[in-house]
Amino acid sequence: MKKTRFEAIAKYYDFFTKVLMMGTYGRVRERIVSSGDGELALDLCCGTGYVTGHIKAKRVVGLDLTRGMLMINRSKNRDNPSVKLIQGDAYNLPFKEDTFDAVYFTLASHEFRNIAPILRDANRVLKKGGKIIIYDIFKPGNPLLKAYMVFVRHVVEFGKCWIYDIGEWRDLLKRAGFDEVKADVVYKASVLLQGRKAG
Ligand SMILES: C[S@@+](CC[C@H](N)C(=O)[O-])C[C@H]1O[C@@H](n2cnc3c(N)ncnc32)[C@H](O)[C@@H]1O
Repeated sequence: MKKTRFEAIAKYYDFFTKVLMMGTYGRVRERIVSSGDGELALDLCCGTGYVTGHIKAKRVVGLDLTRGMLMINRSKNRDNPSVKLIQGDAYNLPFKEDTFDAVYFTLASHEFRNIAPILRDANRVLKKGGKIIIYDIFKPGNPLLKAYMVFVRHVVEFGKCWIYDIGEWRDLLKRAGFDEVKADVVYKASVLLQGRKAG
């Protein structure tokens, strides 16, 4: 399995995320998971489990490439029998077509230079009519937040950070096979998107 930079920072991830998101992530979580009931959900790039154990589906599979992130997630969900965690690559999901009722993809899309194949594979593993729920930072209009994003992009993410505006998100999701796309700007600097597998 290839390694990610998250292996080195797993222990500090929750703390840094809280600081960098200025405490907003915890508050947004209820909104993120509010629509996601159903039988089986995938938390794609689940990390330390900011969202995993809060998803309201009967069963949740969390997938991530980084062992250290999964270990922290596992410790949070030790007593939660509905959560199963696996190590795997978002570019090559080890699931059959039409498996999940919902796919969650939170704070992770900006990590990938090439997001289109990940969105297409998320679409493949969703059942018809299944939902994708994406939450991430996005291109803000506000000049102060724009400057903050430049800091995040170049200092925190070492230049490896890919973010989109709402028009670009709509286009990406449409091309990946989603329709009924809804987008809500949250705290002026992040976006909560929802799309439905078309067909
Ligand atoms: C910024 S964290 C987000 C974690 C979590 N979703 C959250 O909301 O806090 C990005 C996650 O993507 C994972 N990741 C990076 N590349 C990956 C890949 N190719 N396949 C699966 N996970 C990957 C990292 O290990 C990390 O846990």
